[in-house]
Amino acid sequence: MAETKRLFTGLQPSGQLHIGNYFGALKPTVELFKNHEGLIMVADYHSLTSLKDGPALRENIVEIVRAYLAAGIDPERATIFKQSDVPEHTELAWIFNCLVTVAFLELGHAYKDKVAKGLEANAGLLTYPMLMAADILLYDTDVVPVGEDQRQHVEYAREAAAKFNNAFGQTFKEPQEMIQKAVGIIPGTDGKKMSKSYGNTIPLFGTKDEIAKAVMSIVTDSDGGLPKNVYEIHKLFRPDSLTQLEAVYEKYQGNYKALKEMLVDDIESIIAPMREKRDSITDEQVREVLNKGAEKAKAIASAKMEDVRKKVGVSI
Ligand code: ADP
Ligand code: TRP
Repeated sequence: MAETKRLFTGLQPSGQLHIGNYFGALKPTVELFKNHEGLIMVADYHSLTSLKDGPALRENIVEIVRAYLAAGIDPERATIFKQSDVPEHTELAWIFNCLVTVAFLELGHAYKDKVAKGLEANAGLLTYPMLMAADILLYDTDVVPVGEDQRQHVEYAREAAAKFNNAFGQTFKEPQEMIQKAVGIIPGTDGKKMSKSYGNTIPLFGTKDEIAKAVMSIVTDSDGGLPKNVYEIHKLFRPDSLTQLEAVYEKYQGNYKALKEMLVDDIESIIAPMREKRDSITDEQVREVLNKGAEKAKAIASAKMEDVRKKVGVSI
């Protein structure tokens, strides 16, 4: 009989969510957790590598939990918790940092990309993968659902597990990534990857006016044909009627304004109910979900760390 696999995933609370985050991360996670058990972690300490603004971080944490709940996560099935509530994560990250070399960490794509984009090369950014390894390994995780950009981080987690097991004896399970390919990279209003750092996003929980403004700003080429940038976003909102959508684009060829207006309506019909649900979730409810989640996560993580402390020799 197939054994139940434990899933573990995380998302940084690093800013206003956009539809790229929704289709690339939130929605697939919600789908997956409908028939799997596991944990979803708000990676607040990870976001400290780039965000130095207490009030903003606090707001982002609450916002991301509301987003998961509004998108349909059942907190009874999936344990939602925040990284900083379980100090075993940073504790284990330290131990892993002592097992890998600086040269190994310097090979990290995410690290190199962020530094190339002008982000400060702080030590947290360099050692980021070891904190992520701790997140994953503390829970004997089998599968880590992530976007393509996180593949290497899961490889690093396997490496950390192997290094530790090698030095101190079998302790950690080596996890597998589950790359959610189907959606691919969602383009922003300028046709490049939608990303908060490029200012090309359509906000997930924006008002209808905000969504309309973003959609109207989608860059279209001037050859009068199918506006690819509009279509690529539009098809996400009509996954079950693509042939019909193609016909509509055929019919309205060159009429970018009409197509964009239809896109706004289609976005609105999917987002509005979610936005309402999200608006109805109070800070108190978020706190309650996180507290319960932390309790469950902590029970697993603290048992694991007890074993780790014994093995490395700090508990006497
Ligand atoms: P951003 O690029 O806006 O900073 P993040 O890097 O915080 O977004 O991404 C959070 C999650 O959302 C990741 O799992 C990432 O794979 C997913 N994601 C972000 N942007 C896109 C996109 N344009 N298309 C698909 N998935 C995306
Ligand atoms: N680094 C991930 C991201 O930016 C977030 C994350 C932190 C994560 N810890 C994790 C994802 C553990 C999966 C498992 O998207």
